[in-house]
This record gives sequence, structure tokens and C-alpha cells, in this order.
Amino acid sequence: MIDRSQVSILIVDDEEDIRDILEIALMDIGYVVFLAENGEKAFEIFKSKQPDIVITDIKMPVMNGIELLRQIKRENPATEVLMITGHGDMDLTIRSLKYEAIDFITKPINVDILEIAVEKAVEKIISRQKLLEYTQKLELLILEKSKMADHLSSLGLMIGTISHNIKGLLTNLDGGVYVVRSGLKKKDTNTVQEGVDLLEQAIERIKKMIMDILLYSKERKLNRTVIDTRGFMGQIKQTIELKLKGTGIAFHCNDTQCPETMRLDEEFFMAALINILDNAIDACLADGDKKEHVIRFEILKKTDQLVFHIHDNGCGMDTQTKEKIFNLFFSSKGTKGTGFGLYISNSIIKQHGGSIHVMSKKGKETDFKIILPDDT
Ligand SMILES: Nc1ncnc2c1ncn2[C@@H]1O[C@H](COP(=O)(O)OP(=O)(O)OP(=O)(O)O)[C@@H](O)[C@H]1O
Ligand SMILES: [Mg+2]
Repeated sequence: MIDRSQVSILIVDDEEDIRDILEIALMDIGYVVFLAENGEKAFEIFKSKQPDIVITDIKMPVMNGIELLRQIKRENPATEVLMITGHGDMDLTIRSLKYEAIDFITKPINVDILEIAVEKAVEKIISRQKLLEYTQKLELLILEKSKMADHLSSLGLMIGTISHNIKGLLTNLDGGVYVVRSGLKKKDTNTVQEGVDLLEQAIERIKKMIMDILLYSKERKLNRTVIDTRGFMGQIKQTIELKLKGTGIAFHCNDTQCPETMRLDEEFFMAALINILDNAIDACLADGDKKEHVIRFEILKKTDQLVFHIHDNGCGMDTQTKEKIFNLFFSSKGTKGTGFGLYISNSIIKQHGGSIHVMSKKGKETDFKIILPDDT
């Protein structure tokens, strides 16, 4: 908020006596005062000092008050200009009001009238500033409200989707228990094993979903450290090979061109890659056409970039699907997918300053390329 002692006033008059009277009267009240003896000088001072108020004589040599008023309003329309007029200046006075002078005072100058006119100009400046502050606050409030509404609606969507998925998983658990019981009843170990497999699958999916929810809800500050690339790839290999047991899908992990070390958030980045690899596994399992399925994973070092490459010859996807894969909750897997995976991968990779490039041919293959700036 503007403080009266910070209000600055430029006085423009060719008569030194008048400048002196005005200067003393206004400085007494506490305003900061600048002086000029003609319009041209006044405009120079105006540009360098940016006073809030200008008090100018209407008739002056070099550049008259009306011309000065026009130039000031063109330069900064928020400046309040007060005109000093003499007898018989009626025409000029009316013109100056047309160019938005706030008021005029007549010569000889009555200091009380001058003070009232200046006070009026200050009030106008203060209320304009208040209005600006209110508008800015209002804009902020509107922005916050719309962010909250977005948040609430995505929270609602999230709870809905998760509940739906949990319901599906509970059905799977019930199914598993049912198969185990019937195997036990018939004393048939194969059926029991089948039931246990179903239970294991359901538990695995519950675990993944909980991990995704945790990653989604975590306040994500990256914890980047320098890590050993081959060790990192080894951990991924172990996780994926465990998931591939009994599927017949081959996993080729190529570390021949990888850098010795990388600087990234190991936990988050691994989660991002595993999500993409999980999808590659699903895509191979969903593809009934090819006899052999292979998932390839490699990390390459280019000049100032790290490239992570994941390729599968699974079911692929059409262009419409490809456009939606990063949307939260988009899944083509029915109750078997949550649509969390790539949303999370994408946000982790973006946080690392990287980008994802996807190429896919329906029925043939999918290729994910992640490019990170290499800042080791
Ligand atoms: N390698 C791939 N091959 C074919 N389709 C893919 C591949 N990767 C992703 N998709 C498509 O992108 C969709 C979104 O993937 P995303 O990982 O986000 O969710 P999801 O796998 O369905 O569920 P989850 O939350 O369990 O990961 C998938 O449902 C699938 O349609
Ligand atoms: Mg997935």
C-alpha cells in the first residue's frame, strides 16, 4: 500500500515564485517534490523520476501544459496531472480535462485549495492501487480454487478406480482360495498348485498397485546419487527374470555400451523402468501370434546423453492407444491394469529432465526410448 510520504510530485511552472510557494507547501505536508521551469525539462524529469503526480502551469514557453499533459498520459496513464490555470484560460482548461487532467486550480494559488486538490489525486492513486491488489488477490484465489477442484476430481477418480481394481483383485483372491479348497478336498496337488498360483498372481498385483499408489502420493523430491550402472542393470535383470519364470519370454540385457556410472534417483528411476518392462511382459503374454518373444533392455552413453532402450515383440498398439498411454488411469487391460504405470514413469523421467519416445506397430513390436541429459 502506498504511504503518503512516498508520494512524489513534479511541479512545473515558468514563474520561480510560484514554484517556490508550491514546493514549500507540499514539502511541508511531507511529499517528495521535483521542480521544472518548462514542459520540455519537466518531461525529462518525469521520465527519470516517475513522479506519481504532476502539477503544471497551463501556459508556458517551449512546451505548454496541455502538450506536457498529453505526453505524460501517453507515457504513463496512471500519473495524475493537476493543471494551474489563469483567468481567461477557459478553453485550455476544458481541453486539459478532455486529456484526463484530474483537476485544475486557478491563479493566484490558494494553498488550502491546492492541498485539497493534491489530496484528491493521492486518494485516486491509493484506490487504484487497492483495486489492483484486490484484483491480484482475487486472481490468486480463483487459481487456487480451480487447482483444488482439479485435485479433488482427480482424487475422486483415483479412489473410484482403485476401489474398482481392489474389487477385481478380491475376486481373484476368492477364486484362488476356492481352487485351493477344492484341490484339498479332492486331495489333488495339481489343483492346489493352480490355486496357489492364482493367489500369488493376485498378491503380486496388489503389491504393485500399493507401490504405485505410494509413488503417486509421495512428495517427490529426487535424491540423485552417482550409481554403478552395471549393478543397477543387474538388479533390474534379477527382478524381471523372476517375473518371466515359466513364461518362455527371453530377456536380453545389454550392458556393452553403457556408462560406468550414472547420476539419478536410483529407487524412482528403477521404478520407472520396471513399469515399462512390466508392460513389455504383459504385451508379450497378450500376443498369441508369435512363437518366440524377446524383451531387450540396454543403456547407452551418447556424447552428453544417456539412452535407455526397451524393446518387445509383443502385441504392440494402434495409434489411438499410443496417444493415451501416459494418461493417468488409462489402461487397455481391463481389471488387470490400473493405468498408473506409465503415468508414474513419465513423471519420474520428466523430473530427471528427460523425455520418452515411443514407437509401436500393432501386432508386431513396441519400442521405448528414454533420453536423459548426462550430468555425471
Ligand atoms: N509395451 C507395450 N505394448 C503394448 N501396449 C503397451 C505397452 N506399454 C504400454 N502399453 C499400453 O499402455 C497402457 C497404459 O500402460 P500403464 O503401464 O500406464 O497401465 P497398465 O499397464 O494398463 O496398468 P498398471 O497400472 O498395472 O501398469 C497399457 O494398458 C497398454 O494399453
Ligand atoms: Mg503397466
